[in-house]
Amino acid sequence: MSLELELKNQTISNWNKIKPKKFYIESYGCQMNFADSEVVASIVSKEGYNATKNLNDADLILLNTCSIREKAEQTVRKRLQGFNKLKRHNKNLKVGVLGCMAERLKNKFLDEEKIVDLVVGPDAYKDLPNLIKKINEGRDAVNVILSKEETYGDISPVRLSTNGVTAFVSITRGCDNMCSFCVVPFTRGRERSRDPKSILNEIKLLVEKNYKEVTLLGQNVDSYLWYGGGLKKDFKNITELRKKTSINFSKLLKLVAETFPLLRVRFSTSNPQDMSEDVIKTMSNHKNICNHIHLPVQSGSDNVLKAMNRQHTRKEYINLIKKIKKIIPDCSISQDIITGFPNETDKDHELTLDLMNLVKYDFGYMFKYSERPGTYAAKKYEDNISDLTKKTRLQEIVDLQQKHSNFRTNNYIGKIVEVLIEKESKKSNLQWSGRNQQNTVVVFDKKGFQIGDFVNVLIKNCTSATLIGDAINYSNL
Ligand code: 5AD
Ligand code: SF4
Repeated sequence: MSLELELKNQTISNWNKIKPKKFYIESYGCQMNFADSEVVASIVSKEGYNATKNLNDADLILLNTCSIREKAEQTVRKRLQGFNKLKRHNKNLKVGVLGCMAERLKNKFLDEEKIVDLVVGPDAYKDLPNLIKKINEGRDAVNVILSKEETYGDISPVRLSTNGVTAFVSITRGCDNMCSFCVVPFTRGRERSRDPKSILNEIKLLVEKNYKEVTLLGQNVDSYLWYGGGLKKDFKNITELRKKTSINFSKLLKLVAETFPLLRVRFSTSNPQDMSEDVIKTMSNHKNICNHIHLPVQSGSDNVLKAMNRQHTRKEYINLIKKIKKIIPDCSISQDIITGFPNETDKDHELTLDLMNLVKYDFGYMFKYSERPGTYAAKKYEDNISDLTKKTRLQEIVDLQQKHSNFRTNNYIGKIVEVLIEKESKKSNLQWSGRNQQNTVVVFDKKGFQIGDFVNVLIKNCTSATLIGDAINYSNL
């Protein structure tokens, strides 16, 4: 070998030793997973890994997974198969699975998917430095221990694929509701709330970086309760003084809205049984809290709601909607609905359509029931609604929602809405895209405005999902 070639090879080999490693992360499922990936990015970056958006560059690929429906899991498994080729080309490449699927399948994942080196549950991300060390030594690594305290409140998330304007801030983890169809209580553990100080600190950092909107996140934000740490269920055993100084969701919302009066505040998800009048009043009293509530109902039939172990009846849900609309007339409401739950009759289905006609939701997320192993419903009820019936019912629900969404968006025509500009419109580089308070997408000509501006837009036209208008001037939020 020539001296020149030898030197070149040595240089490449030295460079390989010192060049910073790269990680690639992909998130599936709920907003919580996307927020968690930013916590993971922060932890992994401290281990000397730089983020890359290019799979082919990565030394470590992480998939933050979702188990909510079987289809979500299949998507992840297919994606993993696609990495086989990458691993053949790069013997040092490691693949990790995070999130709900990791928690649900635990060690089994390593057997079922040979490509996987690392399995980490949603409460074990702080163990990533040890686990990464282990896989780099050629060993498999698994940590799926659920925690009663972990909220990652002390970790400053690294914002991934951000527009620099809107961000998620998680305020609770886990869920104690035990809806009979849902795998989340098993994969994300018991409900716990994050220290309000750390929430305010995270938001302060965002505001300093010029972010204009935060969404407070949790499986059940309305049951947020801080009394110094610990599980929600233990609240009843604490001293009266601690009870008095505790912070519930309406207090937290007020605190955030008043500490950052120029910041738009959203939250998700709300559960009907926990949404208090105080929260609705706090929304109504603060201009910077957006008038939108995501309020999953799942079904319009009391029989199904009962079998689902939902903690509300149809009547209670309707009364809550009435209360919301009375206090905040222009509040938008969105839904989650599951169709084809075991034993759901045509009558039950009609009741769901009837409830939708009563509420006329602004938008929603609609699903066919998917049996999840280990849940109460999987153990107790046969998944006895045929796929054809599920499909037919789902289509009816989706069509009705489309009609209601159309009705809602048409109501904006001729009105002025306040929009936060988030990005360029997908359809035209001459237009901006943002959302109004009610969470509907609005597009309009750019004129002299910039991403991050609040503008008043006169709505001239619409589809069922988008408002189209003309920006008039800056808004004074
Ligand atoms: N099958 C179908 N949809 C489900 N969801 C939760 N679990 C299931 C399941 N087993 C839906 C609910 C929930 C949303 C996040 O996902 O509507 O509100
Ligand atoms: Fe699942 Fe029900 Fe908890 Fe939502 S509230 S995460 S549907 S158990």
